[in-house]
Amino acid sequence: MESLEGKSILLAVSGGIAAYKMAEVASALRQADAQVHVLMTENATKFITPLTFETLTGNRCFVDTFEKDEDYNVAHIALAQQADLMMIAPATADVIAKLAHGIADDMVTTTALAAGCCKMVAPAMNTAMLENPVTQDNMETLGQYGYQIIPPDTGMLACQTVGTGRLPEPQVLLDYIAWQLARPKSLDGVRVTVTAGPTEEALDPVRFLTNHSSGKMGYALAREAMLRGASVTLISGPSTLSAVPFVRVENVTTAKEMLHAVQDVLPKTDILIKSAAVADYRPTHVYDEKIKKGSSKLTVELERTDDILEWVSHNRHPGLFVCGFSMETQDMVENAKSKLESKELDMIVANYLNEPGAGFAVDTNVVTLITRENTLPLPMMGKDQVAERIMDIIAIKRSENVPSQR
Ligand code: CTP
Repeated sequence: MESLEGKSILLAVSGGIAAYKMAEVASALRQADAQVHVLMTENATKFITPLTFETLTGNRCFVDTFEKDEDYNVAHIALAQQADLMMIAPATADVIAKLAHGIADDMVTTTALAAGCCKMVAPAMNTAMLENPVTQDNMETLGQYGYQIIPPDTGMLACQTVGTGRLPEPQVLLDYIAWQLARPKSLDGVRVTVTAGPTEEALDPVRFLTNHSSGKMGYALAREAMLRGASVTLISGPSTLSAVPFVRVENVTTAKEMLHAVQDVLPKTDILIKSAAVADYRPTHVYDEKIKKGSSKLTVELERTDDILEWVSHNRHPGLFVCGFSMETQDMVENAKSKLESKELDMIVANYLNEPGAGFAVDTNVVTLITRENTLPLPMMGKDQVAERIMDIIAIKRSENVPSQR
């Protein structure tokens, strides 16, 4: 998870079996260097103890509104004022009803009423309770008061039935928090399209041509843009990576499908980042049946695929920022600069395939960021940090160019 240093987060836990999941959330937030304070309802303490949260967060866990604390004069007001975000999870039907109607009779509800920060509610309960119109109305009311409702998952519930009402997994709750707090929203309202991963070109029903791209760099870029508030479309070739939260994903297989996906989304794109390793050639003929073993040699004829960036260069609209990638095995900077020119790019990210710490499957990369004015070699760093640096440079370049192009 991204660093949350300097952020103060309130976790409010109410009395549902899923309360145990909040221990993992609290622990991960502390490891991300956030200040974490946990509040519990009386009922929540029947499922998990305050001591668990105190040990994980290093801070006192509050249950009783009237208990004196030497650090805070009026704890629920002080905690509410210092928080950057309050997450009520799991939120029972009872707590949701109270919050919707301004009832403030315990530590969780008084603090929520006093908190002016971003407030998120993660309902967790039996399906019938959740679907009851009273609960639905209360959730809608909370939405109108500015609470963000985190949709409950579907699956096995504590009552041994399968239905909707499960608290989402800790990672999902952490994603919501990171989305809100991890970065300033410098790309709010900006539409970013990222292509990622390899493409596959079929030869017969069994075989295809592809490359070693894992998609890690592109997925890291999509996440970074999402954290900065952009509306992100990820056009992904075949990849085993987990989906990037809050990002619209379009799965494609071939270079042709990737071209069509880019063509569809380009008019609604402000920043296009083409990190995909697109196949340059595909078999001229795709066999309907499996090619059987024959003589000792087999010749396969290949034809060029469309160059997607070349198509973009002829169809770009004013204000569009285009960043390409260039993976080389020799003369990296010269080759990348000539692609910057020929594909009419605003920026290109170049790397050597054979450099230690760079390349396809590893979590690190060693890149050089090249624009028309500058060549900036970066040291080896994680692909998520590379994504951060790339987005920083794109933000600077856009701020220089966008007004003059409008
Ligand atoms: N690219 C593309 N369409 C293709 C091939 C590549 O849009 N059919 C894009 C890649 O996504 C990347 C950039 O072009 O952003 C450079 O890709 P690369 O494979 O390094 O270069 P090529 O242009 O294919 O040239 P070469 O393979 O000869 O180095």
